[in-house]
Amino acid sequence: MANLKRSPPEPLPEGGPCLEVETPFPVSTVKTKTPILNHAQRDLMRAAGRANAALLDYLRPFITAGITTEKIDKLAHEWTLKHGYRPATLGYQGYSKSCCTSVNDVICHGIPGKYELCNGDIVNVDVTTIVEGWHGDQSETFLIGKVDDEKIAVTQCAFDCLYLAIEAIAPGCLVSVIGETISAEAHRRGFSVVREYVGHGLGKSFHQDPSIPHFPNRQSRVDRLLPGVTFTIEPMINAGTRFTRLDRTDGWTVRTKDGKPSAQFEHTILMTEDGPEILTRTQHGPQPGHLFKNPG
Ligand code: MF3
Ligand code: CO
Ligand code: CO
Repeated sequence: MANLKRSPPEPLPEGGPCLEVETPFPVSTVKTKTPILNHAQRDLMRAAGRANAALLDYLRPFITAGITTEKIDKLAHEWTLKHGYRPATLGYQGYSKSCCTSVNDVICHGIPGKYELCNGDIVNVDVTTIVEGWHGDQSETFLIGKVDDEKIAVTQCAFDCLYLAIEAIAPGCLVSVIGETISAEAHRRGFSVVREYVGHGLGKSFHQDPSIPHFPNRQSRVDRLLPGVTFTIEPMINAGTRFTRLDRTDGWTVRTKDGKPSAQFEHTILMTEDGPEILTRTQHGPQPGHLFKNPG
């Protein structure tokens, strides 16, 4: 996800110079840095999303107790190169792995390493793929063996928040619909929403306008999701406090300040004239309405 505090502004993406868009929505003429994709470009994003989802489905059976997070990374790396793609995270702002693996109180950007997943963990695996220059980006939180009720509840909340937000958006709507929907649901369940890390536009560039905060803010009350915009929704939901702590030794790992668990789900989405289209639908992952529970 894009970092509200640290990310330097990225150069304008090749695919999207400042466009002046005439729209039927109540915004007369909008000047925006958000690229609006034509139909050929949308198909390229569909291909990137499909490839990324296939990667997550490939990894799925391996994400069990006993595997190290660096083994997951190796599998992701090899699968991606074998298909002629590139992982977007590899070399991104100095990041040296092909995915992120965020365990328990790690909110996001966990670096794969020697850690062995064990019974009772939750782990978010976030994968990205560049296909012919276009980006796919998605993540899921996995339950490892039997996990406690709080971890199940926070995982369920992040999953439901993602799909509630997708259901709530429509062509031309304000970006703030996403943050309103997610905050309301998370708070209703007694959980908190991370603010420092947000969803983002993506296309020829990994992170671009618009910013997609999972809480309403000033910019999101101005930005609109016009047909042809591609972006992520990736709520990070904390069981306890929303506040975060960045690991100063590795410069990447983001943890909850109180050590309580955090969960996240992410999709890449295209807004079409008919509504949102999820570009990173998996074949074998949890589908809308899924109930997370312990095995047996
Ligand atoms: N995949 C993350 C996102 O959802 C970004 C990870 S950047 C990394 O936007 F450098 F930490 F890998
Ligand atoms: Co993202
Ligand atoms: Co991601």
